Amino acid sequence: MAHLFNRNVLLGVSGGIAAYKSAELVRELQELGANVCVVMTRGAQEFITPLTLQALSGNPVHTELLDENAEMGMGHIELARWADLLLIAPATADLIARLSAGRADDLLSTVALATAAPLMLAPAMNQQMWKDPATTANIDTLSLRGARMVGPAAGPQACGDIGLGRMEEPSIIAGAAASVFQSSQLAGKRVMITAGPTREALDPVRYISNNSSGKMGYALAAAAVDAGAITTLVSGPVTLTPPDHVQFLSVQSAQQMLEQCIELLPECDIFIGCAAVADYRPTEVANQKIKKAHDEMTLQLVRNPDIVLAVASSQYPTYTVGFAAETNNVVAHAKEKMQRKGLDMMVANDVANEAIGFNSDNNAVTVLYRDEENTLELASKASIAQQIIHLIGHQTRKND
Ligand code: C5P
Repeated sequence: MAHLFNRNVLLGVSGGIAAYKSAELVRELQELGANVCVVMTRGAQEFITPLTLQALSGNPVHTELLDENAEMGMGHIELARWADLLLIAPATADLIARLSAGRADDLLSTVALATAAPLMLAPAMNQQMWKDPATTANIDTLSLRGARMVGPAAGPQACGDIGLGRMEEPSIIAGAAASVFQSSQLAGKRVMITAGPTREALDPVRYISNNSSGKMGYALAAAAVDAGAITTLVSGPVTLTPPDHVQFLSVQSAQQMLEQCIELLPECDIFIGCAAVADYRPTEVANQKIKKAHDEMTLQLVRNPDIVLAVASSQYPTYTVGFAAETNNVVAHAKEKMQRKGLDMMVANDVANEAIGFNSDNNAVTVLYRDEENTLELASKASIAQQIIHLIGHQTRKND
């Protein structure tokens, strides 16, 4: 089922009578799981108040391009980056013309230019305006640039005319928005993903671990499901809710994670090692809580198994993807690791940059495979995950 969990939908509302239906659209998008933020044009505010859409979306409504306060919070660039999808409903003939011309004369048109997110339009206008060759040409231009259209529908119009030009129903628009994130690229493929940190016990109440939030691995699992994969998520302890439709296996230590992965490996076509596996574990785990008897204590640690390496060097022909969190010479270190571990793909992550670090909702990575290098610019982890899954789909199809 198409859904919008973990997706940021930026809903643009322009000035047509159908704007009243945008209120219901906010609800429909939320019901599919989306986080919704609204940008309104001046015209839209003549038909429906920002307050209505603010109350429904639970987020401030953005209306002005040149607004000091807005720029200090979510300015046009932040909005553009935040969006996983820019959905404009209703999209009036004037807005469609401005988008087609590449204008940036208000907040909505500027965000449309500044975002790398897919654009979906739900046109709404009088049937004669829809038929006009100028509108047809503008729609063709935007479609050629990759914009997706939903509607318009035919029927009676607010102006009394009957014909094509009514905004499509909100439930249909929301469904179309969700389908943007679905592909059949990995249909039927079995994907296993490790995520989160591992916990290496010292005694019954203490452990060694790290700051991994699991967000990237969980986003990858959601993207794999969207691409049609039968998805297993092997996760260390995190506070996230597993995405729908994944087989979820919770583990604590690196050894448990390895055992789970090896057990399931015969039924796995693609393995993505996104977990921040602890490199070492205490040599001994005390049965009782360790007492603070001395001023100093020494911990002896032993190396943990390398899970991704074990998968890559197993007898099974699994396409294996690793993640390399680096602080310097990111690509060079990642390349070296990819070769040493025998991986098919490596995703290199600069963790020295706080904007894309462990707990951030955003990421920017360089993906290495064969002799190629692909940079994925700063975007939400959901969007980066979708792009990585797309690249994996592309590469594994080549190998089939
Ligand atoms: O060697 P390094 O930890 O930097 O490599 C990162 C990659 O190796 C990640 O894909 C991580 O999930 C995997 N890894 C692993 N088992 C380990 C250490 C790292 O699977 N013990």
